[in-house]
Amino acid sequence: MLFFVDTANLDDIREATELGILDGVTTNPSLMAKEGISGEAPVLNHYQKICDIVGPGRDVSAEVISTDFAGMIVEGKRLAELHENIVVKVPMTVDGIKAISFFSQAGIRTNCTLVFSAGQAILAAKAGATYLSPFIGRIDDMSWEGIDLIKEIVEIYSTQGYDTSILAASVRSPLHIVQCAKAGADVVTCPLSAIKGLFYHPLTDIGLAKFLADHKKANG
Ligand code: G3P
Repeated sequence: MLFFVDTANLDDIREATELGILDGVTTNPSLMAKEGISGEAPVLNHYQKICDIVGPGRDVSAEVISTDFAGMIVEGKRLAELHENIVVKVPMTVDGIKAISFFSQAGIRTNCTLVFSAGQAILAAKAGATYLSPFIGRIDDMSWEGIDLIKEIVEIYSTQGYDTSILAASVRSPLHIVQCAKAGADVVTCPLSAIKGLFYHPLTDIGLAKFLADHKKANG
């Protein structure tokens, strides 16, 4: 399972890259706004910075703001031309599916976002999306089991032989990451804090302290 970090914060992206386990980045308009990035040129410049930090071969999802097919195509082409790492993120709408189909035929990679049902996952795969982003945290927020959607899509994609990669999104905790790995997600995207949460176990800290104390006793 690939690890993507879900942020537009350059410090977090740098820190995640330095961990040596990062495979890519996802952003969305809310995350860009959180960093105070607005206007076309600053937005493109920010994506360029993200691509430079993560280096070659690591996908960076950049989302279109247009909601109509024509606008999505113009915007998506501009984003894709910016850097080879860029994957054009497109919302799950009728125009979005048309745009994904267009981009797929043009050899432009896409990430179909805002996916909340198995039916939507089938449409995105049929349209040729590179990645599919089911939002598990937001389903949990509605008191349903978000991870069940990942399990359902994994089963469908495997049964049908679809190529689209399942990129579990709205992943917010270390437990979510473990659940996604068990369910068979191809990619997980989450804040850096969730990845860092995987490191810690009190028995690791206690065990290391004991090893070092014993070494000191024996070696002075
Ligand atoms: O980037 C899309 C998704 O990961 C957002 O997550 O926590 O805002 O539901 P969240």
